[in-house]
Amino acid sequence: MTFINTIESLTLEFQEDMGQVRLSFQVQEIEALRIKWMGRKGRLAHLFESLKNLSREEKPEAGKKIHSFEQQISAEISKIVEEGKEARIQAKLSSRPLDISLPVNPPSSQGSLHPITLMQEKLRAVFKGMGFAMFDGPELELELYNFTLLNIPDDHPARDMQDSFFLKNGSAQNQIPLLLRTHTSNSQIHAMLQNQPPLRVISMGRCYRVDNDATHSPMFHQIEGFVVDEGISMAHLKGTLDRFVKDLLGRDQKTRFRPSYFPFVEPGAEMDVQCTLCHGKAQGCRVCKETGWIELGGCGMIHPKVFKNLNFDHEKYSGFAFGFGIDRMAMMLYGLSDLRLLFEGDLRFQAQFPVHAS
Ligand code: FA5
Repeated sequence: MTFINTIESLTLEFQEDMGQVRLSFQVQEIEALRIKWMGRKGRLAHLFESLKNLSREEKPEAGKKIHSFEQQISAEISKIVEEGKEARIQAKLSSRPLDISLPVNPPSSQGSLHPITLMQEKLRAVFKGMGFAMFDGPELELELYNFTLLNIPDDHPARDMQDSFFLKNGSAQNQIPLLLRTHTSNSQIHAMLQNQPPLRVISMGRCYRVDNDATHSPMFHQIEGFVVDEGISMAHLKGTLDRFVKDLLGRDQKTRFRPSYFPFVEPGAEMDVQCTLCHGKAQGCRVCKETGWIELGGCGMIHPKVFKNLNFDHEKYSGFAFGFGIDRMAMMLYGLSDLRLLFEGDLRFQAQFPVHAS
């Protein structure tokens, strides 16, 4: 048999093998076909081996033929591998028809939004409605922004190691004291350094203090709000906060202001809301500690020294600021008796909250 005849008969044999495999498209059969023809001891390897028995004149022509035969086999085997995949998918689909009318499995454990996230969404909506813009301040802060520029003197107790979490070595390059911010009032400084009046800003986020009891957590959340413009007065502050509380807790919600001291406002006040659980009537409500009122946080007119620190014209501009605890608001809104419930990660607690913010 000549070399050419051999290749022709091998071509026929290969086509027959392919026909067999196409009957079932079994993975094992396709692999067996590949090994038979392209394996180390396969038909092609033998063919290449037999080249050495040919004369020098016959070799070039025969070499070309084997090469093109090899390409044909390789292409057809690749094709049948793909055809096999498709055939198996089709077989699966026809053996298990898809019924799109079947009800889907109910989700076994759908996540829900954390009460603080829900609270923040509500706050954002209320203040957006009043035309406030959002601003994010850093949680890792320089003493300068957390205290000094806010007119909090060096010897103020809030700077003490008992109240603030300082980083051991300060900022890596120059050892400047760094701490976890103790309030969101640092955002006032950043926002005023980056923008000029008129300003109407809300900033929310995590704060840190060395605190831990039923109403104090080492990590908690605050919302800071401030307005800077010409002619801003305490009346704007009271009107804005009263409107905010009514939007959040209802039209009948009562509020009160008590004089208080914060170095960065003058005059300063604490704002309280009437207890949402006992409405100031019942005796012995745990949440309001039997006072009938719950403190939301501090507020006041921005101190001229803060404006001077930031090179704002304090004769021309005035402003108000407030900083409230978001966790305390969540306690009120959701009737929680212990703030720490919010951060224990207990799924029985978390699962009681909705999946979407409304
Ligand atoms: C401040 O932090 C001031 N920066 C607020 C302020 C801003 C005053 C702008 C004037 C103008 P105070 O330390 O009172 O104030 O905290 C405000 C509120 O944060 C508190 O009323 C309380 O609701 C919440 N808060 C403070 N510490 C904690 C804590 N450890 N855990 C939970 N909530 C806290």
